[in-house]
Amino acid sequence: MVNKATKSTDALIGHDAWNIQLDKNGHLKHFLTTEGLGTEILNQILDTAESFANINEKKVKKVPLLRGKTIVNLFFEASTRTRTTFELAAKRLSADVLNINISTSATSKGETLLDTLQNIQAMHCDMFVVRHSDSGAAHYIANNVAANISVINAGDGSHAHPTQAMLDMFTIRRNKGANFGNLRVAIVGDILHSRVARSQIHALNTLNTGDVRVIAPKTLLPVGIESMGVNVFNDLEAGIKDADVVMMLRLQKERMQGALLPSEQEYFQLYGLTEERLRVAKSDAIVMHPGPINRGVEIDSNVADGPRSVILDQVSYGISVRMAVMTMTLGREPETNDNPTVNNAGGNR
Ligand code: CP
Repeated sequence: MVNKATKSTDALIGHDAWNIQLDKNGHLKHFLTTEGLGTEILNQILDTAESFANINEKKVKKVPLLRGKTIVNLFFEASTRTRTTFELAAKRLSADVLNINISTSATSKGETLLDTLQNIQAMHCDMFVVRHSDSGAAHYIANNVAANISVINAGDGSHAHPTQAMLDMFTIRRNKGANFGNLRVAIVGDILHSRVARSQIHALNTLNTGDVRVIAPKTLLPVGIESMGVNVFNDLEAGIKDADVVMMLRLQKERMQGALLPSEQEYFQLYGLTEERLRVAKSDAIVMHPGPINRGVEIDSNVADGPRSVILDQVSYGISVRMAVMTMTLGREPETNDNPTVNNAGGNR
């Protein structure tokens, strides 16, 4: 078992000044990773999302909190759930939304990322929501935009997907209550290439989850994963035994280099979640998946569509969680000595 004293990064780096995600007052300015953020901020995201949940069930799904703000979705990589729920979240907060279609933008004519950013910044926007295939892209953008612009990481390479992790935490809290200390959470699949797994592990540990497990073949586990404060298993049934939450991951074939797996069929035989295998988890265990799911590869259809699955709830909760992150970052009081010309790549303000 993991020594709990090594698990929480909260006390060490939760409020360090170098964390560019926080402003001088300790409020969330950018949301780039769950790593290094303290329990207080993560719980604030979850509590704020809870306050927005009922808006999404009303006849008129709109509040004026971000009226007059402009949010730009910059997706350099494919997305269904994240892009659409960010757009819906922004619209439900009454913000104006620009979706830049990268495949038809001037980047296809050789314009650099920085030049694209500076041009969009010159249109007086307030937030970039960024998905990129390169790890670190969102940090790079946050370091190069005007000081008044917030950057939200919508997934960068195999590094981080913080809003996905927080909607996953929200789903767990809704189903299992706010005391994560009692929970055994098992993350199953391609941990090596998964930005979702990394962000989930940081968030679960910051929320003091009792037992965080990762389950995968050795070829799909990063070297030294134990240092992230998880218990490691190579056998699926041993790993999900008595789990409260089973989080399945897709094989990220687009990020695999070389032959890491014999075949999808063999993978399913060893690591695919079936109703029979799920019997070793707790009888009220929930099954999660960030999507997109590959039926018959990491999960059987009977489980994905079955009574334990909360996969579509995760998608719905994504709207509330993204509304929370947007209001927290854009609704901040201006910093006392916030100078918008500092770090101003576009010089537009
Ligand atoms: N979970 C997730 O990031 O899905 P999309 O790739 O469809 O956004």
